[in-house]
Amino acid sequence: MTRRDPPLTPVVVAESVADLRSNVVRAHRGGQTIGFVPTMGALHAGHVSLIERARAECDVVVVSIFVNPTQFGPNEDFQRYPRPRELDLKICGDAGADIVFYPTVDDMYPPGYRTFVEVQGLSEILEGAIRPGHFRGVATVVTKLFLLVQADKAYFGQKDYQQQLLIRIMTRELNIPTEIVTCQTLRDPDGLAMSSRNAYLSSAERVQGLCLWRALDGVRKLIEAGERDLAKLQQSLVDVISAIDGVVIDYAVIVDAGTLASLTAAVPEMVALVAIRVGKTRLIDNLVLRLTDRAAG
Ligand code: PAF
Repeated sequence: MTRRDPPLTPVVVAESVADLRSNVVRAHRGGQTIGFVPTMGALHAGHVSLIERARAECDVVVVSIFVNPTQFGPNEDFQRYPRPRELDLKICGDAGADIVFYPTVDDMYPPGYRTFVEVQGLSEILEGAIRPGHFRGVATVVTKLFLLVQADKAYFGQKDYQQQLLIRIMTRELNIPTEIVTCQTLRDPDGLAMSSRNAYLSSAERVQGLCLWRALDGVRKLIEAGERDLAKLQQSLVDVISAIDGVVIDYAVIVDAGTLASLTAAVPEMVALVAIRVGKTRLIDNLVLRLTDRAAG
């Protein structure tokens, strides 16, 4: 079951755990490597780039599309989260996926479900402080998906920096033999990081949201110009965002890139993490800041 064999187009849709298992077993028996892209659907060019990377590096590409209820808070957008099934399946097929796992909520969480995974210390800070329970839901569903897909490599976007770090740590600590590949954030030409939630933004809100990238890029430029005073870098991040009327800052911080611990002085590898609310929509973004080579990425 590789792209060199008779092609699996249109993409195979595994609607249940049993369906997925038989496809995974077949791939493993054939000695093929599996690349996995977990998603919640509403796919955009950022997801396509993850699927294409998996296609380039693995024999079989599995994409999961599951809007995971356990990672949404009671007042979040679980019900209204976009679910354009046919379009998503077409995007997966066009990008080179072989199998799309499209489970139901009951498949993943049968009645009476009670087993959860938590990465202590990282789940409760920053995004986790604003969205209590969110990372417990993410860690749980990703663990379940990893156990089902048994992929050689799994692909995540850097846009959700805390998520990819948490998954990296969780995978290592649970001895899950899947390599985590973090892929660069894809941006629209105006700098806005691609996200399924951008669809919620009015055109005025979208313009407001551009302050995220302006703030991050501003810090990058300051570092390139030689600024090393953490308080000044941090202040510039906040100033650029708070200059925009109607934008509420959830957090705008520069922390250690490997642990997300807060800092009192600059260290060689930091990450600027920003989260804002524009109208009813939350936007997050980040930029890794490296001091050693004076480059940021
Ligand atoms: O990033 C996402 O889309 C989700 O958090 C993930 C990793 C698919 C888990 O539901």
